[in-house]
Amino acid sequence: MRVPLVAGNWKMNKTVEGARELVNGLLPRLQAVQGIEIVLCPPFPSLLAVHTLLKGTGIGLGAQNLHWEPSGAYTGEVSAEMLKELCGYVIIGHSERRAYFGETDETVNKKTKAALANGLIPIVCVGETLAENEAGQTEAVVTRQVMEGLKGIEADQAGKIVIAYEPVWAIGTGKAATGIGANQVIGDYVRRPVASLFGDKVAEGMRILYGGSVNGTNAALFFSQPEIDGALVGGASLKVDDFSAIVQAAAK
Ligand code: PGA
Repeated sequence: MRVPLVAGNWKMNKTVEGARELVNGLLPRLQAVQGIEIVLCPPFPSLLAVHTLLKGTGIGLGAQNLHWEPSGAYTGEVSAEMLKELCGYVIIGHSERRAYFGETDETVNKKTKAALANGLIPIVCVGETLAENEAGQTEAVVTRQVMEGLKGIEADQAGKIVIAYEPVWAIGTGKAATGIGANQVIGDYVRRPVASLFGDKVAEGMRILYGGSVNGTNAALFFSQPEIDGALVGGASLKVDDFSAIVQAAAK
């Protein structure tokens, strides 16, 4: 049995004060939900404030990025060693980081290893662009991102990884994938390559999320699919009603 996971990726939104307000709005609604894992991923400056508010609630905290080196002359970067004092999770290789900040399968691989070595659960993002989708390259791209992003990881560590399949054309566009379409990609192009890397047992146990324009209305369509174990939520994670509705749908 895979425990469903819903993670909110706040992206570059909310001041520290705004983060406190959002968490205070979310907490009574989220704490009422049992049987799933919930993770909030605010920007770095708000991690400490949100960490304090989430203490004892059972709700997890994640960062949106990390550097693979433990420390040193890397101006502007934050390491796994620093994050692990506050966070249990970290998003790695989000398509916005791949598109705007030069992340590659190689950096995703280094970051995933650094996260695991420090006891952080990596939420590794994969997904094809619109052009790749239209060119019939979804299988090749997503399979490559999984195989290259996770290579060289020990099977006993790999079981902790969470993957988020986020087709780039669905992110922030209001044009979500269909439940059946996302289920097929996750089963065939994500879980199957994971099985070839780490064996069937790891693949069967791994949580694989869908992300891309998930909201309170469409969430249940994804969660009813057998291969989809939760969601990585962007825009709707900033809205108390929407995010609470997604979390409730995942718990059903
Ligand atoms: P969205 O973003 O829910 O706003 O489409 C998802 C994501 O980028 O993780």
